[in-house]
Amino acid sequence: MDRQTISRIAHTDHPIAAPITDEAVARLIGRAARPEAGRALDLGCGEAGWLLRTLAAKPRWQAVGVDLDPTALNRARQTAQAMGLERRIGLHHLDAAAFTAKEPFDLVLSIGATHAFGGLAPTLAAAGEHLAPGGRLLVGDAFWEREPAQEALDALGAAREDFTDLAGTLDLVRAEGWTPVHGHVSSRQEWDDYELSWTGSLSEWALDHPEHPDSAAALAAADAHRAEWLHGYRGTLGFVTLLLRRTSAH
Ligand SMILES: C[S@@+](CC[C@H](N)C(=O)[O-])C[C@H]1O[C@@H](n2cnc3c(N)ncnc32)[C@H](O)[C@@H]1O
Repeated sequence: MDRQTISRIAHTDHPIAAPITDEAVARLIGRAARPEAGRALDLGCGEAGWLLRTLAAKPRWQAVGVDLDPTALNRARQTAQAMGLERRIGLHHLDAAAFTAKEPFDLVLSIGATHAFGGLAPTLAAAGEHLAPGGRLLVGDAFWEREPAQEALDALGAAREDFTDLAGTLDLVRAEGWTPVHGHVSSRQEWDDYELSWTGSLSEWALDHPEHPDSAAALAAADAHRAEWLHGYRGTLGFVTLLLRRTSAH
C-alpha cells in the first residue's frame, strides 16, 4: 500500500493533516484572512482543508493550493465541488518551491510542509516571496517540547537539528524578519486526537475491508504508526502555527 493511499485513508476523519482542532483552525483563519476580499496561497496544501475553510468563511476570497500529492489534490477538488467552491480555488500539482504567480497574495499558508523547502527559515523566505505588501503568513511547524530521546528521533526519522524548542522557533522567526501577531500551540489533547484519528481511520478501513488485498498492510501500517507515536515521539514533538507579519517593509 503506497504512502499516499495510507495518508488519504488515515485522514478520512481529520482532513487537516496537523494536530489541530477545527475550532483552532477557524480562529486562526479568522485572524489571518481579515480583509473582506483577498487571495490566499497554500504551499503544501494537501487536501486543501485550510483553503476551503477560508473560502467558506470569506465569500470574497480566492485561493490557490500547491502540492506534490495528486491523491490529496483530487480529494481537494472533490471537496471543493461538494462545497460549491470549485470556481474560487486553483489547485496545482507542483513542487511548492517551483510555484510562480503573476500576482502576489494577501495570505500565504504553509502548514506542516516546511520540509518542502528544507526547513522553517527557507519556508519563510519562499512564502514571503509570494506575499503582497502588508500581507500575512500562516506557518505551521514542529518543535521539540523536550529534548528528543533516540527513540523519538528513530520514530520520526528525524535528527536533533531538524527542529529547535518553542523559544528557539520564535527567535528564528524574529531573526528572519517576521513578527508573530497570533498563533496556536497544539495541546497534548490535539496531538492525541490527531494520532488516534489517523491510526483509527486506517484500522477501521482495514477491518471494514477484510477481503481487500491491502487490508493486512493497512492494519500493519496503523500499528506501526501507533507504536512510533506512543513509544517514540509522544510528548516530545510539539507543533506551533504562527500568524506572521513582516517586521519592516524593507
Ligand atoms: C503534513 S501534510 C500538510 C498538508 C496541509 N498543509 C494540511 O495542514 O492539511 C504536508 C504536505 O506537504 C506536501 N509536500 C511535501 N513536499 C512538497 C513539495 N516539495 N511541494 C509541494 N508539496 C509538498 C505533501 O504532499 C503533504 O500534502
